[in-house]
Amino acid sequence: MRKEPRHLVDTIEYRPWNRRDIPDLARLARELYAYVESVDPVWRTSPGAEDHLRVHLTDLFTTRLAMSYVACEGEEVIGFITGSITQRPPVILPHRDGLVDNAYVTPYWRGHGIGTRLCHLMLAWFREQGVEEVRIHYQVSNREGVRFWEKLGFRPWTIQAHLWLGGDKKPET
Ligand SMILES: CC(C)(COP(=O)(O)OP(=O)(O)OC[C@H]1O[C@@H](n2cnc3c(N)ncnc32)[C@H](O)[C@@H]1OP(=O)(O)O)[C@@H](O)C(=O)NCCC(=O)NCCS
Repeated sequence: MRKEPRHLVDTIEYRPWNRRDIPDLARLARELYAYVESVDPVWRTSPGAEDHLRVHLTDLFTTRLAMSYVACEGEEVIGFITGSITQRPPVILPHRDGLVDNAYVTPYWRGHGIGTRLCHLMLAWFREQGVEEVRIHYQVSNREGVRFWEKLGFRPWTIQAHLWLGGDKKPET
């Protein structure tokens, strides 16, 4: 039987991603999307999502405007965070800001500070890049996510609203 994760968290290693991590990150991002889908019926994931995520992560990897950090137990990636720097329309300040794309820790390892550590690494990278403001999108129905981001200092700021025009098959919100 595996030990309780709290006895093992000191052995977790944190590092910037490399190209070989992309298939693992696509698989974990797919799990993240399935989790979001389970708490938010409006969020639906398309068939072939993992392939699309692999392409998206490869695009991010090849730009210097993005970074991901991974948490590993031995060879196994158990969590990650991804962020990118976005250019905004010239009329809006700041002209560039940080966008946290995805954050995920596998269920067994949750609640032991791994997500927090990954987020601090991501925020430090943004600071090194001269970024002073960071955004994140998360579902209001994702209670864990809401607590996690608010504990890190993020505050709800804009509201993205949803209206269904597609007839009877409306997702229940
Ligand atoms: C959100 C997530 C990345 C946090 O990672 P983690 O390693 O579990 O987080 P931490 O252990 O660093 O927890 C930090 C704080 O987040 C909150 N939190 C974490 N897990 C929680 C849970 N299951 N329920 C409620 N709050 C929780 C708590 O405020 C916690 O602080 P505390 O332990 O002092 O109470 C992880 O739970 C996860 O992958 N969840 C599913 C996917 C998701 O929601 N991703 C974020 C949306 S993009």
